[in-house]
Formats: sequence, C-alpha cells, structure tokens
Amino acid sequence: MEGKGVEVLMKVAIAYYSQHHGNTKKLLDAIKELGDITLINVVKCKEADLTNYDIIGFASGIYFGKFSKAVLDFARKNLPQEKAVFLIYTYGINSKGYTKAMEQIIAAKSCQLLGTYGCRGFDTFGPLKLIGGIAKGHPDKDDVEGAREFFRRMIAESPSTFTKL
Ligand SMILES: Cc1cc2nc3c(=O)[nH]c(=O)nc-3n(C[C@H](O)[C@H](O)[C@H](O)COP(=O)(O)O)c2cc1C
Repeated sequence: MEGKGVEVLMKVAIAYYSQHHGNTKKLLDAIKELGDITLINVVKCKEADLTNYDIIGFASGIYFGKFSKAVLDFARKNLPQEKAVFLIYTYGINSKGYTKAMEQIIAAKSCQLLGTYGCRGFDTFGPLKLIGGIAKGHPDKDDVEGAREFFRRMIAESPSTFTKL
C-alpha cells in the first residue's frame, strides 16, 4: 500500500558532541521524535556496541574545522565495518571540508555515507563573545525542520531499512 508516508522501523543510533551551546543537540531532539533513535553523548559514553543498529549517525558542532575530537575518537573506536552512516553538524561560519575527517574514518571502515546535513549554530567562541556572538538564534525553526526533512528523506531513500505505509 502507498500514500501515508514512511514509518521509521529500523534502529538508529546517533553519537554526538554538543558542548558549546547545545546547538547540534537541538537538531537531534527534533529528529529523535521520528523513530527508534538512541542518542549517545560521547562525553559520557566512550565505548558502545553499535553492531545491532541499522544506521549510525555522528553529530557535532564544528571545532577548529572538524567534528569534535571526542566524536572522531568515538567513531574510530566504535563504528563497525560496513554500516550505513550519516552526519549532522552545526557551525558558526559556512565553509567546505568540515566533514572530511569523519569521511576518512567512514571510508576506512568500508561504511556507506548516506548523507550529511549542516546548518549554522550560535557561536560565541573567543573574541566573537565580545560582539555578542554570530549566527544568533540558530539553529532556528527552518534549520530544525531542514534536519527533520533530511532524516526523513534519507530513510525513504535508503534501501531495505524502511517500511512504506
Ligand atoms: C572551541 C571552538 C571552536 C570552533 N571552531 C569553529 C570552526 O572552526 N568553524 C566554525 O564555523 N565554527 C566554529 N565554532 C562554532 C561552533 O561550531 C558552533 O557554535 C556550533 O554550533 C557549536 O555546536 P554545539 O553547540 O552543538 O556544540 C567553534 C566553537 C568553539 C567553542
């Protein structure tokens, strides 16, 4: 049968680091409502058995041009081989290459990168604090809805891991 949309039935884990302003976590809390999704805070949890998850996400604020070291280390240690993976991130200033270090880990584990979603996040790092920060109010409503839409579409397009109602 067709027409009602997509029900997320597979198990999803998202390992995240969101320490600056909770910007990235804001996106994850909205995505979490869409299915059976386990959020893993890599500050508190350094080791996890991810073998039983169908899809694994990594999410982070951007720190010095990449995902936080804690997420990179977590992925190196815990991402099983040949998994389907996605990336979510927030940054102060849009630029290329923020996902590169994660992509290298994903490739080294023969995993498949299903997609990436990035948006701006309130940034008061260093001297930016003196001017009240940048990207104030982000992620905003549209950013959050964009993240949910990214997730929905990714699930709908990923083979055999979803059920169409
Ligand atoms: C130590 C530090 C380094 C940062 N480095 C960058 C950077 O290289 N590029 C950028 O666009 N934003 C940078 N930011 C801004 C954060 O990526 C942005 O605020 C992000 O939304 C934080 O996410 P979080 O609140 O989930 O931790 C940095 C922030 C901090 C605190």
